[in-house]
Amino acid sequence: MRVFIDTPEKIAEMAAQKYVDLLRRKPNAILGGATGSTPLGLYAQLAKLCSEGKVSFKDATSFNLDEYVGLDGTHDQSYRYFMNENLFKHIDIPIERTFVPSGIDTDPATAAAYDEAIKAAGGIDMQLLGIGNNGHIGFNEPGTPFGSITHMVELTESTRTANARFFNSIDEVPTHAVTMGIKTVMNARSIILMAIGKAKAEIIKATIQGEVTPQVPASVLQLHPDVDVFLDYEAAALL
Ligand code: F6R
Repeated sequence: MRVFIDTPEKIAEMAAQKYVDLLRRKPNAILGGATGSTPLGLYAQLAKLCSEGKVSFKDATSFNLDEYVGLDGTHDQSYRYFMNENLFKHIDIPIERTFVPSGIDTDPATAAAYDEAIKAAGGIDMQLLGIGNNGHIGFNEPGTPFGSITHMVELTESTRTANARFFNSIDEVPTHAVTMGIKTVMNARSIILMAIGKAKAEIIKATIQGEVTPQVPASVLQLHPDVDVFLDYEAAALL
């Protein structure tokens, strides 16, 4: 793992540069997307670079990590809606080549087909990840087997509480999600992990310097050969 520590603005720029480099080398790259607060600075930077003609996504394809069960793409808290509003509308990626797991069709076969679609597209070149306070990546909560592929999960109370800030009340936070599995994530050729803020400091220490264990799902990234970790000073405070 290569670890970079700087301000939130600077790490967003550094992560954006990884996209610029990849898309110059491989314009039809397959990108793995994430939602949440953490990538917002990066997405704003990508939108800026795209509008300035410094990067183009016109031949790229994107597969997102996860989606809430029960929310369709028109719901303003769905991850499809988040991606459209915070990234896809502002860059030149063809919307038909952007994929988010279905939160409506929760048939296990449909979830597994997501992994097949990724494989058929050639596999993910660069997967972006945030990290939950409990170490989840995607919505792979502690205890998820490292061999898991895209599947439906029950969200932990800690995750529902953390995400309640986006809803009117915790009761509105979905109880389940569909997420790429840990194996799906680990199959990506390269990975960017980002974390911002002091609430992430403990789990970042466990992820980077702790034991590799399903109890800290992100710790599996220690076993991946090509991971860049971008942290702000607060998230890196305990390293
Ligand atoms: C989002 C996702 C989650 C988030 C994580 C951190 O698609 O899969 O793992 O990355 O919950 O969320 P934020 O960035 O809001 O702290």
